[in-house]
This record gives sequence, C-alpha cells and structure tokens, in this order.
Amino acid sequence: MAQPRHILVWRLLVFVAALVPLSWWMFHVAIGAAGPEPGRYLLLNLGQGALFLLLCTLSLTPLMRLTRWKGFSAIRRQLGLWTFSYALLHMLSYLLFILGLNWTALGEDLQKRPYVIVGALALVILLALAVTSNRYAMRRLGKRWKPLHKWIYAALGLVLLHFLWVVRADLAEWSTYAAVALGLMLLRLPGIAQRLPRLGERLKRARV
Ligand code: HEM
Repeated sequence: MAQPRHILVWRLLVFVAALVPLSWWMFHVAIGAAGPEPGRYLLLNLGQGALFLLLCTLSLTPLMRLTRWKGFSAIRRQLGLWTFSYALLHMLSYLLFILGLNWTALGEDLQKRPYVIVGALALVILLALAVTSNRYAMRRLGKRWKPLHKWIYAALGLVLLHFLWVVRADLAEWSTYAAVALGLMLLRLPGIAQRLPRLGERLKRARV
C-alpha cells in the first residue's frame, strides 16, 4: 500500500536519527577516542541506546492518543525494529569483546554476571516481537497478536532489572530511565489513556 509523503519523510528521519549514534560510536572507536576499552564502550552505549529506543517506541501510543495522528503507528514498528537491532548488536558486543567468542568461558561468566541471563530473556522477547511485527504475522496471529505484543512490558521490566543489576549503587542514570518507564506505564492506565485525546484537543484549541 502506498504511503503518504509525510509518513515517508518521518520514516526517513527515524532511519537517520537511529543511524547517527551508531555511526558516531563507530567513528569514536575508529579514531581511538573510545577510551581504553573500546569494546566495552560499544557494549554500554548500545545497551543504553537499546533502552532509550525501547522507551521511544513505548511513547508513541500515548502520543498517538494525544494527537490522533495515525502516522505514529507507522513509525512504531520501525522504532521497535531499531530497538531490537541495537539490543542484538549489544549482545554481539558482549560475545565478541567481553567473552572473546570463548564459548567454554560462557558458563563461568554467567555465574559472574547473572544479569546477562535477564538481558538474554529480554532479547528473546524483543526477537519474538520483531519477527511478528509484519502484516503477514499480524494476519496469521489474528486475535493473538495483541496479547503477544503486550510482552513488550515484560521486556521493559527485564531490561530495567538487567540495568539495575549492572549499576547497583550508582542509581542516578537508572532512576531517570525507570521514571520515564513508569510515566509511560501510567499513561496506559485506562483512566488516564481515555483522557489523552480530550487533553490533545484542549491543547490544540489553546494554541490556536
Ligand atoms: C543476550 C542479551 C544481553 C547480554 C549478553 C547483555 C550483556 C550486558 C553486559 C555484559 C552489560 C554490562 C557491561 C559492564 O558493565 O561491563 C550490560 C549492560 C547493559 N545492558 Fe545488556 N545485555 C543483554 C541484553 C540487553 C537488552 C535487551 C537491553 C536493552 C534493550 C540491554 C541494556 C543494557 C543496559 C542499559 C546496560 C547498562 C549500560 C551502562 O551501564 O551504561 N541489555 N549488558
């Protein structure tokens, strides 16, 4: 189905915006500006990037209710796929730079870093959501599609737990992500979600 021009422009903007940080980190690694552990630099940035994109993806439904702009749903799938791509690259960085592709060290490392298992569970959920995000899967799954995609909330919970386990004492950054996540969950409560379109209308009228 042909898409309106402004949606294609938005898609292009999302594509560029998601590619910029990735290129920036690669550039930093290439010029030796990524510190003494470039592998870990990539791992951490990709992890935070994936969580940031996950929160961006989850912000689109409340934004859609507020503005009634259907274009947000077209971008949602694209952002979701970027979230998965960042998370996948984050996992690959772990395998390559932390584990050195040494599979025999994996068991020992999992005892040292049990939070990796929590991250892996979140990644499995993101994988399931990514492969079922197309029209064909939607049609095949029918009524089961929506409940399946509600697993995104479980993925968010697991990622926050994974992150909390990594940072432990230094909670400043984690708290910011957790507060945004909580805000996005509150906006989904029926009592609040139902009021968003009316609030959007009021804001629009106040602007005119
Ligand atoms: C198999 C899957 C995963 C593995 C193996 C993995 C591995 C890791 C490791 C080893 C660290 C800690 C690095 C360090 O402090 O030395 C970490 C941190 C992190 N991971 Fe993952 N992770 C996985 C999945 C995910 C997913 C799905 C997300 C988000 C969508 C994520 C987000 C993060 C974040 C936000 C951090 C903290 C970054 C920071 O401290 O700046 N991880 N991960």
